[in-house]
Amino acid sequence: MSKKFSHDAIERSVALMIVLTLLTVSVGGLVEIVPLFYQKSLTKPIDRAGNPLDIKPYDALQLTGRDIYVREGCYNCHSQMIRPFRAETERYGHYSVAGEFIYDRPFQWGSKRTGPDLHRVGGRYSDEWHRAHLINPRDVVPESNMPAFPWLERPVKAANIQTKMQALRALGHPYSDEEIAAAPASLEGKTEMDALIAYLQGLGTALSNFK
Ligand code: HEC
Repeated sequence: MSKKFSHDAIERSVALMIVLTLLTVSVGGLVEIVPLFYQKSLTKPIDRAGNPLDIKPYDALQLTGRDIYVREGCYNCHSQMIRPFRAETERYGHYSVAGEFIYDRPFQWGSKRTGPDLHRVGGRYSDEWHRAHLINPRDVVPESNMPAFPWLERPVKAANIQTKMQALRALGHPYSDEEIAAAPASLEGKTEMDALIAYLQGLGTALSNFK
């Protein structure tokens, strides 16, 4: 082997080592990531078998609730990602599929479960249960160590909802002009609690059509 390209030469030059390491990591990364942009089950509302999922972008109220979920840091204790293991599917329901998250920017999979996974919590409890639980979790689950969120009973801020929806539309969420025009009115008189509950009640319900 010629001396110029020997491993020895690379190991003795920090600069060359850095450049070649970056090159290798970038090529490796791109080979893994780029095909995912073109895989339909990850970019279209379908499951792995190609069946359509009844999934729509969040409406104005849910979208507002989702931002409150992020703001309050619910993801620090709750994941939204059911893994395909029996212990999880028996407890939470059907495992999560990639197509369910296409309108989640950023996704809320989380990596910490101090509380249960919330991906299929939609429809499991009544709105009243959620309201009581969020105001004081101990009122409905005596042994709960979830913090209380009583301040959510205040009006939502509707000022930037249209800009938010327009930004998401630019990224591919199919909002119509009418939906965007009607958004501020649909938030009128709503509290942050209403918005958060609307978001929670929609979680994971899209898959029900092939359970
Ligand atoms: C410090 C950790 C922590 C934080 C932060 C937290 N939770 Fe919880 N959550 C828990 C624990 C623990 C439970 C299980 C006991 C209970 O039901 O209260 C729980 C339960 C729940 C449940 C019931 C789930 C089920 O399947 O029974 C919902 C819904 C929920 N949390 C929503 C939220 C929302 C929304 C937020 C943010 C506003 C939030 N949680 C923030 C710890 C947390």
